[in-house]
Amino acid sequence: MAKAFSGIQPTGEIHLGNYIGALRNWRPDEGSYYCVVDLHSMTMPWDPDEMRRNTRATAAHLLALGLGEPSRVFVQSQVPEHAELSWILTCLGRMGELGRMTQFKSKGRGRQDVSVGLFAYPLLMAADILLYRVHEVPVGEDQKQHIELTRDLALRFNSRFGPVFTVPEPRISEVGARVLSLRNPTEKMSKSDPDPNSKILLTDPDDVIRKKIMTAVTDSGREVYYDPEQKPGIANLLEIASTLSGVSVEEIATVYRDKGYGAFKGGVADIVIAAVHPLRERVLELLGNPSEIDQALESGREHAHAEAKPLLDAVKQAVGLLVP
Ligand code: TYM
Repeated sequence: MAKAFSGIQPTGEIHLGNYIGALRNWRPDEGSYYCVVDLHSMTMPWDPDEMRRNTRATAAHLLALGLGEPSRVFVQSQVPEHAELSWILTCLGRMGELGRMTQFKSKGRGRQDVSVGLFAYPLLMAADILLYRVHEVPVGEDQKQHIELTRDLALRFNSRFGPVFTVPEPRISEVGARVLSLRNPTEKMSKSDPDPNSKILLTDPDDVIRKKIMTAVTDSGREVYYDPEQKPGIANLLEIASTLSGVSVEEIATVYRDKGYGAFKGGVADIVIAAVHPLRERVLELLGNPSEIDQALESGREHAHAEAKPLLDAVKQAVGLLVP
């Protein structure tokens, strides 16, 4: 059983891209850690009250997915080793390699007024992962480059200071690693998209989900088949339906091939609703019970801290810092 670590930013709203690309692949195994990465959210402008609310709401989603035990869910800022290791890695990371990160290039767009944190973000992410000696990091496609950087840093550290870090592998599923916007199927489904119809949230009621799928942008034409180049909207819906139902993309396409887009979208909506409905119920139930969330987070914090502290001490020892 491979130990895993993964994280999600606390926007409070979790969409189908997060679920299909990442959360669906997070397994509740002993020794695995799933983190609400509040410190990462500070790399872009934020509102303190929203941050508090969204951190709990995001944790509620992870707990509703059953990740609270025996794996653990915790809040990044409550385990101070993350920020501390991040600094040490900041002194090993190179300007050039961070400047090549596509997420920084697309979010920063060459502007001078973005935060230094946005640039340094992948070093904090590397610290998150390396503190827990995990083998696997289940993520969507957009995080692959950050995990490659994490591997490079771990190898660089180990060869210079001795074998302290486990070198992790990304775990990215073949289908659904990049779920696209329902309004613009050349862009990924994204929390920051202001158009609510571009994304399906795990808290959307059934009728809202159906409406969003029925009005999803597709190309002109009638035939349903899988062609991500020519028919990105249809291909996206096929991937969503396939990952949530366990039926292959080809089989679903065969069923709807000549039935028209309307019937196809209706079928996709049925599949999405069947998957999301029970999750929504559990998330809403937990949100009504904040003390249960806080208790699970406290237990997660204790376990995470107990694991991270000795690793950080080993790092300090290796690099020549005096460990008290
Ligand atoms: P975040 O919060 O943007 O997204 C959480 C997870 O959802 C995946 N994802 C998607 N997958 C498929 N299609 C999409 N449209 C889509 N949108 C998001 C992301 O790939 C991610 O796996 N930097 C990370 C958080 C992080 C982290 C970590 C992850 C911080 N430390 C350590 C792993 C390990 C982020 O911003 O994810």
